[in-house]
Amino acid sequence: MTSTLQEGILVGCGNPLLDISAVVPLNFLQKYSMNEDDAILAEDRHMPIYGELVEGYQAEFLAGGSVQNSLRIAQWILRQPRVAVFFGCVGEDRYANILKEKAQAAGLDVHYQVKKDVPTGTCAVLITGTHRSLCANLAAANNFTIDHLEEPSNKALVDNAQYYYISGFFLTVNPPSIMQVAATAHAKQRPFLMNLSAPFISQFYMAPLLAALPYVDIIFGNEAEAQAFAEAQQWPSGDLREIGKRLVAMEKKNPTRPRIAILTQGCDPVLLIQQDSVQEFPVTKLAVHEIVDTNGAGDAFVGGFLSQFVQGKSLDVCIRCGNYAAGHIIKNPGCTYSGEPEFVE
Ligand code: AP5
Ligand code: NA
Repeated sequence: MTSTLQEGILVGCGNPLLDISAVVPLNFLQKYSMNEDDAILAEDRHMPIYGELVEGYQAEFLAGGSVQNSLRIAQWILRQPRVAVFFGCVGEDRYANILKEKAQAAGLDVHYQVKKDVPTGTCAVLITGTHRSLCANLAAANNFTIDHLEEPSNKALVDNAQYYYISGFFLTVNPPSIMQVAATAHAKQRPFLMNLSAPFISQFYMAPLLAALPYVDIIFGNEAEAQAFAEAQQWPSGDLREIGKRLVAMEKKNPTRPRIAILTQGCDPVLLIQQDSVQEFPVTKLAVHEIVDTNGAGDAFVGGFLSQFVQGKSLDVCIRCGNYAAGHIIKNPGCTYSGEPEFVE
């Protein structure tokens, strides 16, 4: 990074979750009626998973939560602390301390809302070979309320930011907060970025997603998420490029800044869709022996992208840094990094 950035230039909201990650046999998934690449919210029947992982499967504890992951990665690449501010809700417990420690170590400026009597959220990361299945128990994260953003010091942080990023996952928690941040971004003509996050968001939370979408300048997603959105909209074509074009053409509050869609497809090229144009950005394939796990790849992609976007870099540079960051965390457990960032523009 060359010049110094404004502190708090980027604000994000999401679910702060501690990931409990372990390699499990296939019948572990079957026992809980889960599939190899799920991303679901825990129901009552899933609650024993977390204890079982800790007791029987040498589980690792890793800082997680989609937006927090992305902002930690952005901070790592920027090498200047407190560029990014994160809001989310945690309990008052050991897990919250671990999350805060990891976030701060990355340079992220966290402003958690704290709910005393509710445990900090966790996400089971069930690894079977090269697949990973996620089961999030939001717990405290689900208790985020808009009054946290209305506290004067937090409101000032939101007002002073220049860029805003919220996950689709947060739609299950507090749409009014999303709409408030979106409206602030709109009033100040500042970019508002969102993520489709998981197929279940389009399947079950389409109404709040559609309410936020007119404010969204850049929408991120992977193949499965884009397909789920298209299906929920009953669009005829399953072609990713077509889906992207339709997505960017949907209603937008600020038509002077047309929406952009950025769709990742694993080791296949990233698609950048703007109006009628689709550009491809190749991904450098990793050899099998270099891959530790792909958990957090999508989040890291966004983190790398944001690290350049807040510096006003071109979309081309932003996407290449996204691919760099994703490639790096794939070589590390969960959404973690090692050493100094080595991205060159
Ligand atoms: P998870 O879904 O695992 O992370 P992700 O960031 O979405 O990563 P994926 O591996 O699913 O990647 P993707 O499919 O999005 O992207 P793609 O494969 O296209 O979730 C992790 C976190 O989610 C956890 O920490 C958890 O806490 C959190 N979470 C779960 N539920 C939540 C909830 N309800 N609320 C909040 N948080 C929640 O790849 C993206 C890029 O990676 C590519 O463009 C490329 O650059 C790179 N890449 C991918 N594969 C390869 C490859 N083989 N070789 C080289 N590069 C590759
Ligand atoms: Na990883």
